[in-house]
Amino acid sequence: MEEDARTLFREAEGAIAAAGADLKALDAVRVGFLGRKGKLTALFKRLGTVPAEARPEAGRVLNEVKAALEERLAEAIRKAKEQAKRPKSVLDVTVPGRRPLSGRLHPITQTAMDIAAIFNRLGFETVEGPEVELDYYNFEALNIPKDHPARDMQDTFYVSDEVVLRTHTSPLQIRTMEKKRPPIKIIAPGKAYRCDSDVTHTPMFHQVEGLMVGRDISFGDLKGVLTVFVHQMFGPHVGLRFRPSFFPFTEPSAEVDIQCVMCRGAGCRVCSQTGWLEILGSGMVDPEVFKMVGYDPDEVTGFAFGMGIERIAMLRYGINDLRLFFENDVRFLRQF
Ligand code: FA5
Ligand code: MG
Repeated sequence: MEEDARTLFREAEGAIAAAGADLKALDAVRVGFLGRKGKLTALFKRLGTVPAEARPEAGRVLNEVKAALEERLAEAIRKAKEQAKRPKSVLDVTVPGRRPLSGRLHPITQTAMDIAAIFNRLGFETVEGPEVELDYYNFEALNIPKDHPARDMQDTFYVSDEVVLRTHTSPLQIRTMEKKRPPIKIIAPGKAYRCDSDVTHTPMFHQVEGLMVGRDISFGDLKGVLTVFVHQMFGPHVGLRFRPSFFPFTEPSAEVDIQCVMCRGAGCRVCSQTGWLEILGSGMVDPEVFKMVGYDPDEVTGFAFGMGIERIAMLRYGINDLRLFFENDVRFLRQF
């Protein structure tokens, strides 16, 4: 009898737990164990069959179990009623918000977009071309003959004899002129590749090519466009100079230096004490290049330029190691 009572108690405990906060289910448990036809009530009815000498002890245990069960049920019902009073979900509008991590444009991307915006405002249209390029477009058509040192295996990534990873964005000059007739005003931003690696050179880098071709385009137009660019990019007080240079695809050629943005021209470590920093190569399109695309050099003239985007970004943000751009350290990238 006592054993039956304890088993019943464990059964009732399980039923209460299963009912959870469901008031109806809890009432069903009450009826099932303590009601008139309940399981515990039935045990009480069996007391009469217990031998007289064991009856008081059996009665005591049954009463104990009954009291414990009533207490458990009352507690479960109290909790269930309390929970029913609470709103279903609690929204505390005073809890401080959690700021989501936002992405940012890479400084090279930002710089490329800003460069493009300046030239787009001047009427230059943006074009793009392949990074895996034919030797013809990367070299041959740009008047860079087979024995030119730029073609050395040490500078160029060759895919095959006739295919290279473009070493500059200048192939876009040829690709554009092959497709269109003058007047032409384009810029071509994109990746370039060279077998090169130190604090100012990486194997992959970015350039923006520019090309303007038409009637009577002069070196004065080249100077005017690039002067506007430098002033808009670095500020109206930054000086620039055109320094004679050489490129096989331009004649005459000039490299453009700007006043060192670190020392404002006084001379420092960044500009090797010269006060000037090179930002791009440029020149008047060589007549040989016009002949390659079927233009008549007596009819049209033009200028071209090519700048390193990393170089511009380094000067703009005061960064002294090019490799930081490609290490993808978010602590570095988050600053822009
Ligand atoms: C050229 O690539 C010419 N195509 C530029 C040009 C275009 C001249 C049109 C005339 C007319 P250069 O090899 O100097 O020139 O490269 C131009 C710029 O690219 C450099 O000033 C530098 O900023 C950048 N550059 C070159 N190699 C690397 C490199 N390995 N890593 C990062 N930037 C580089
Ligand atoms: Mg150079």
